[in-house]
Amino acid sequence: MIISGKDLSARLKAEMAVEVASFPEKYGRVPHLVVILVGEDPGSVSYVKGKAKASEAVGIRNTTIRKPDTISEEELLGIIDELNRDDEVDGILVQLPLPRHINEDRIIAAIRKEKDVDGFHPMNVASLWMKQPCTLPCTPKGIIRMLCEAGVVLEGSNAVVVGRSNIVGLPVAKLLLDANATVTVTHSRTKNLGEVTHRADILVVAIGRPKFIKEDMVREGAVVIDVGVNRDPETGKLCGDVDFEPIEKKASIITPVPGGVGPMTICCLMENTIECFLRKMEK
Ligand code: GUN
Repeated sequence: MIISGKDLSARLKAEMAVEVASFPEKYGRVPHLVVILVGEDPGSVSYVKGKAKASEAVGIRNTTIRKPDTISEEELLGIIDELNRDDEVDGILVQLPLPRHINEDRIIAAIRKEKDVDGFHPMNVASLWMKQPCTLPCTPKGIIRMLCEAGVVLEGSNAVVVGRSNIVGLPVAKLLLDANATVTVTHSRTKNLGEVTHRADILVVAIGRPKFIKEDMVREGAVVIDVGVNRDPETGKLCGDVDFEPIEKKASIITPVPGGVGPMTICCLMENTIECFLRKMEK
């Protein structure tokens, strides 16, 4: 079975749109998300457009601030400071990666944690690892939502995560642990990776290499979640980290690229923006 993140996110966005439509009467306005895009990276430009489009569908106000990649760290910090203090801004997202002369950690930490819709702020990360209420990072949240919607039992399952990034690998491992899965985190230096991935009931792949996971690395009946967004070097088409065609026949459930995890990430960003807005309004 192929899980369509596109269909699921469309349904969830329609539900959110109904909720957001009630906000002007209740709170006097709708949530406002500000996205900052530095530079012209085609991938980032396309993601930011997707975020604006989803905001429109849900009824969230979206402002996209575009800056050249020559912007200084100080100037970027200045923009964030202004947005932090603006009462009409509920969520701030700085699209990553940033140019090399800008310290990403400094930028992420400068965003007020209450407006950190990405869940990347050190305080939100700490809260996640301490099981305190927090804004969850969008991709891991979307992955867990897809698994639950597909009826996958996480408790007691062997989950293997390929990749250990702060954005996906580590937080998704933590969420799987919290759902009582037995979790193994693997990475580029893991020995006998194929043997480890072959033991997975649930395999989450976020390594960023086209078609890295081959058919012999996946057990018959496994659930396969592909977080990768790559260009296939042979065809130039978008492809995941998983060699989809042979593995689709073997897996019980698999997510496609595009149309799998990506739309769910954006959907969870909308949800996080609404949560930040409501937390402020209901204080
Ligand atoms: N770049 C790739 N994924 C993400 C994400 O989830 N949030 C931000 N801000 N940048 C990204």
